[in-house]
Amino acid sequence: MARQLDSKGLRGSITIPGDKSISHRSLIFGAIAEGTSIIEGLLLSEDVKATKAAFEAMGVKIEQDGNLTYVYGKGFNGLTQPNHHLDMGNSGTSMRLIAGLLAAQPFSVTLFGDMSLSKRPMDRITKPLTQMGAKISGQSDKANPPLVIHGQKKLSPIHYQLPVASAQVKSALLLAAMQTKGETKLIEKELTRNHTEDMIRLFGGEIAVQGKEMTIQGPQVLKAQHIKVPGDISSAAFWIVAGLIVPGSDITLKNVGVNQTRTGILDVVKAMGGQIEVTDFNPINQSATLRVKYSQLKATEISGALIPRLIDELPIIALLASQATGQTVIKDAEELRVKESDRIAMVTDILSTLGVAIVAQEDGMVINGPNRLHGGHVQAKLDHRLAMMTMIADLIVSEGQIELGGASAIATSYPNFFVDLERLMK
Ligand code: S3P
Repeated sequence: MARQLDSKGLRGSITIPGDKSISHRSLIFGAIAEGTSIIEGLLLSEDVKATKAAFEAMGVKIEQDGNLTYVYGKGFNGLTQPNHHLDMGNSGTSMRLIAGLLAAQPFSVTLFGDMSLSKRPMDRITKPLTQMGAKISGQSDKANPPLVIHGQKKLSPIHYQLPVASAQVKSALLLAAMQTKGETKLIEKELTRNHTEDMIRLFGGEIAVQGKEMTIQGPQVLKAQHIKVPGDISSAAFWIVAGLIVPGSDITLKNVGVNQTRTGILDVVKAMGGQIEVTDFNPINQSATLRVKYSQLKATEISGALIPRLIDELPIIALLASQATGQTVIKDAEELRVKESDRIAMVTDILSTLGVAIVAQEDGMVINGPNRLHGGHVQAKLDHRLAMMTMIADLIVSEGQIELGGASAIATSYPNFFVDLERLMK
């Protein structure tokens, strides 16, 4: 590919598209609330479209008018049985959250996905949901998709300690618990993104959160809302890293969601000595403007409670580390092995093909830098974040060409990625 960049690097300003996690939840909560919700700035990517199509198939009317999405909510009791299996595409969030919701609905449904999603473990939701009395099963011992759900109107509340740090599991259980009479208590392994808890409160529901412990009473009734979706820091991450590693760059990213449970990458950039400035914080939707400049970087360690706060950014952070001086160690990140691909194996494979000194560990990666990147043939398969990481790596290749297979996966989360790239290269 080898982009033609002059010595000015990346310049200018872009507005970051809507947060994927918040977009899924806005549609789900809009559908199960009573009344018409308006979503401003919904991300219209392939993953979010899967969630939208699922609710349309269950009788929810959803209309798009420019930047606004109208969701004509049916309440918890108004969804209808779809007349076909529901296609969740590449989206783990769609499958896990919708499964939790439908476990307590009075009809049966089958959820399936693409080749990547079909390999991902669903036992992390089927086990606790089964404890609540749900009838839900997948394939083989990991409960891989397709998932068959025979909805049960009367589930029992549970007290459950989550064995993995996962916002998707937490959210699936909260969506079931909201429809279940009695008190459900969940204890997280580590704090994970709290968008579902925020959404429950925003839609007039109740949840008590104390550190890693949360309590919720069911049943609940939700009321329609107007939501302004902030930009996705996981999408902004590609430009944050590009700005830091492409010589001469100075870029501004507007509308970036900076919810504390998602800003691990900002902590890492600061620890590495990167120049990043956060201004214009908007408390209404927790968004801000970021300005990033090309920087001399030093290695760091990324582990523990920081991991869930940057889990989706670890591929692009590995590229960042490849340009830092010293040894960067990423550990406690075994969850990377069950994402859209085995991201420990794939990131190590792609970056080493491009000349990076990187070694895979069971629960992370060790990267020695700085490295000069060269071309090579790489395959992102069905993993959008690996495709975008490779596109950013392409900006600093000093010899040869990168050939990337699977770039179309980028539409999963960032359909306008190439438009924004062109804008910053002008
Ligand atoms: C998400 C949670 C994370 C993240 C995913 C989106 C969510 O997954 O990796 O991209 O919207 O809840 P896990 O909960 O499985 O860690």
